[in-house]
Amino acid sequence: MWLTNLALLVLLAAAASAATSATPGKVLSNHASILADGSTNLAFRLYQNMAKEKSVENILISPVVVACSLGLVALGGKGSTASQVKTLLSASKVKYEQLHSGLAELLNEVSDPKTRNVTWKISNHLYGPSSITFMNGFIKSSKTHYHCDHSRINFSDKKNAVNSINEWVAKSTEGKLPEVTKDVEKTDGAIIINAMFFKPHWDEEFHHKMVDNRGFFVPGSHTVSLQMMHRTGLFEFCDDAANKVYILSMPLAHKKSSVVFIMPYHLEPLERLEKILSRKQLDTWMGKLKPTAVAVSLPKVSMEVNHSLQKPLQELGLTEAVDKSKADLSYISGKKDLYLSSVFHAAAIEWDTNGNEIDTSIFGTDKLKTPKLFYADHPFIFLIKDQRTNSVLFIGRLVRPKGEKMRDEL
Ligand SMILES: *[C@@H]1O[C@H](CO)[C@@H](O)[C@H](O)[C@H]1NC(C)=O
Ligand SMILES: *[C@@H]1O[C@H](CO)[C@@H](O)[C@H](O)[C@H]1NC(C)=O
Ligand SMILES: *[C@@H]1O[C@H](CO)[C@@H](O)[C@H](O)[C@H]1NC(C)=O
Repeated sequence: MWLTNLALLVLLAAAASAATSATPGKVLSNHASILADGSTNLAFRLYQNMAKEKSVENILISPVVVACSLGLVALGGKGSTASQVKTLLSASKVKYEQLHSGLAELLNEVSDPKTRNVTWKISNHLYGPSSITFMNGFIKSSKTHYHCDHSRINFSDKKNAVNSINEWVAKSTEGKLPEVTKDVEKTDGAIIINAMFFKPHWDEEFHHKMVDNRGFFVPGSHTVSLQMMHRTGLFEFCDDAANKVYILSMPLAHKKSSVVFIMPYHLEPLERLEKILSRKQLDTWMGKLKPTAVAVSLPKVSMEVNHSLQKPLQELGLTEAVDKSKADLSYISGKKDLYLSSVFHAAAIEWDTNGNEIDTSIFGTDKLKTPKLFYADHPFIFLIKDQRTNSVLFIGRLVRPKGEKMRDEL
């Protein structure tokens, strides 16, 4: 009898753990979990696609926000214009209604300032040419699901069009991103713009006074003078000697998400690491993290990055929406008279000392003896990983921070 009970218990435990792995902490509905997962796959593909572009230095992308822009395309699209979005989000089996509600659920969960103690201001805008009319139904559901604003704009009047787009972005990011574009190339397409500002709040703060001027080495270029913040603590850390890379994971407030830094031992272009960077490799690294005493030094800088995403998205499979002859966005305008000519993704992030108070009880104990050094004075890759939803809030790299030139590379 007790054996049967034991077997039952084991079964129950297995079922419980299976359930939690599918929906971590059960915060998301099933379809939102599928979309969280799909956006994570997209994160790595998008990063890889952009990293190979020679003109791109710093990268800062929010995969969940990109997923929502794709959702907007699906909302306005018919036929394969819409179904390509599902494929891109690895969500072919999810119904359209659930795609939209699921993406909204995901974004609302990860950007909730109350439960997350984070400043993450996200604005989305769809611009269409003045020749079209927005359908009321589309305006309504894109506002509900994606908090999207809409405007028609006379793209032929380029100067005014560029000005109003840049003004909107500047306003949406509290002036942090004054310009996302210098030109509108196409006058007959629709433009989607994401503008956001993210300020992490550490689970434990950096000392506000332990900030000083240091040099940051940019490969093949000059050294940049910037502020660095320092603190020693117990962090999840892995020294991957085979790949000559340090992995450091630092929790953000409420420990629901954390910043994962992937930094080569020494100054080098990031290409070598980017070749091995994948979701699977990240999981391997995550599995090797151990609580370790680490003396962390990080740039205390703000990054402002804007990316043009329609080419990378097209290369990853969104071929119909961006093609004037094939696109069917008639749920937006009521006619087959629209295509997607640009997707701009503009993000600012501010790395700062702010966080919750430090637990000082481990100070002066053996736990912090002989800390490992994590001195981020050269390019690194980072992810803001959300544990609760298993999604990637941001993926990026810091290659060239803002700052004065210090001296030339020898
Ligand atoms: C985060 O929490 C701290 C301390 O409770 C508070 O001072 C700060 O305003 C919060 N920030 C956000 C964005 O909620
Ligand atoms: C749009 O701008 C162009 C160029 O300034 C102008 O010629 C045209 O009349 C404008 N169209 C509308 C509908 O205002
Ligand atoms: C964004 O892109 C525009 C146009 O390419 C460029 O002029 C501007 O400097 C960029 N802004 C930032 C903050 O990178």
